[in-house]
Amino acid sequence: MAGQKNCFRITFATMDLHFVKRGGIIFYMKNVVLTFFFAVMLCSCREKQAEIVENPLEKPTIVGFSQIGSESSWRTCNTNSIIRAAESEGFQVVYADAEQKQENQIRALRSFIVYRVDAILFAPIVESGWDGVLSEAKEAGIPVIVVDRKIRTKDKSLVAGFIGENALEEGQKAAEFLLKKYADMSDGEKRNILEITGTADSSTAKERSRGFREMLSEHGNGRFSVIFCESGDFLRSRGNEIISQIIAYNGGELKIGTKKIDIIFSHNDAMTLGILDALDKGGIAPGSDVTIVSVDGEQSAINELKRGRLNCVVECNPRTGEQLMKLVKTVLSGGEIPAESYVDEDLFCEFDNLTLLEGRGY
Ligand code: AHR
Repeated sequence: MAGQKNCFRITFATMDLHFVKRGGIIFYMKNVVLTFFFAVMLCSCREKQAEIVENPLEKPTIVGFSQIGSESSWRTCNTNSIIRAAESEGFQVVYADAEQKQENQIRALRSFIVYRVDAILFAPIVESGWDGVLSEAKEAGIPVIVVDRKIRTKDKSLVAGFIGENALEEGQKAAEFLLKKYADMSDGEKRNILEITGTADSSTAKERSRGFREMLSEHGNGRFSVIFCESGDFLRSRGNEIISQIIAYNGGELKIGTKKIDIIFSHNDAMTLGILDALDKGGIAPGSDVTIVSVDGEQSAINELKRGRLNCVVECNPRTGEQLMKLVKTVLSGGEIPAESYVDEDLFCEFDNLTLLEGRGY
């Protein structure tokens, strides 16, 4: 037909993510070679159109993502947020779940180096012990961005930067809630605290603890004391175990020695839910017999807060994906990123009107 031009439009579609087992690590990857389908369509166009041609041989950007595990709904949301954001940038994701073991994470990072990924994203289970493998990544010229938890290293140049929650502030907010709740305590009155921390040597647990304790000792006028502290490893089962043992050991009472526990500060919602089960079983009313402050903001914890069985939930925001991808694009184009970036975080407590609170989605 006069004035019409035959043009080719080349499109491609991607297949679903699929799992490949390799050396004990689960790779959750999108393989560009396997997933590109070409549909070549001959069509009649009324007006001249630009020809769109994708080059199937162009190497995709591949990011290796080493996640700690899947210990909580918070973690699952964090994983999904990062994978989805990476995909929507068109990155291929090689995902490795460390199942709570540092040695698995080190092995995963080494696999990423061998695989020659373009960037490594890495949520470190603990703070220390990473220098060796990170030096290998540096030698291979692969930039590393640390997410969620921080690392301790002598050589700051081993990583491009960190993005995640502000755990120090989360601890401070938990303490501020208590200062407000007990503002009217009379002189001489004291409150005893049981602190159940997250994974030992994780930056998150250390900073939550530090922020919490510093705030109370600066502003609590000696009226709050942490009388017992134990690591629950961020696991529901451990939260349950610790409280069940204390109750059993003390003949059904929630106390340490002769001191009644007035407040429980639990470093995450998963442990808190285990604690609630133990208190229920022991006939102790959470939220009234004992004040409970938790961290994360999972839907199930917010539901308990609404029922009066928790007193405060400090949000730890798992949705780092979008902000993280901005940083990834910067480092991939040779730019520098801030040493530390944080996500926005809120606090929900018994003083708030929670009826309008949107569903949390995790
Ligand atoms: O590092 C973040 C913490 O890890 C979250 O509070 C917790 O739920 C997760 O296990």
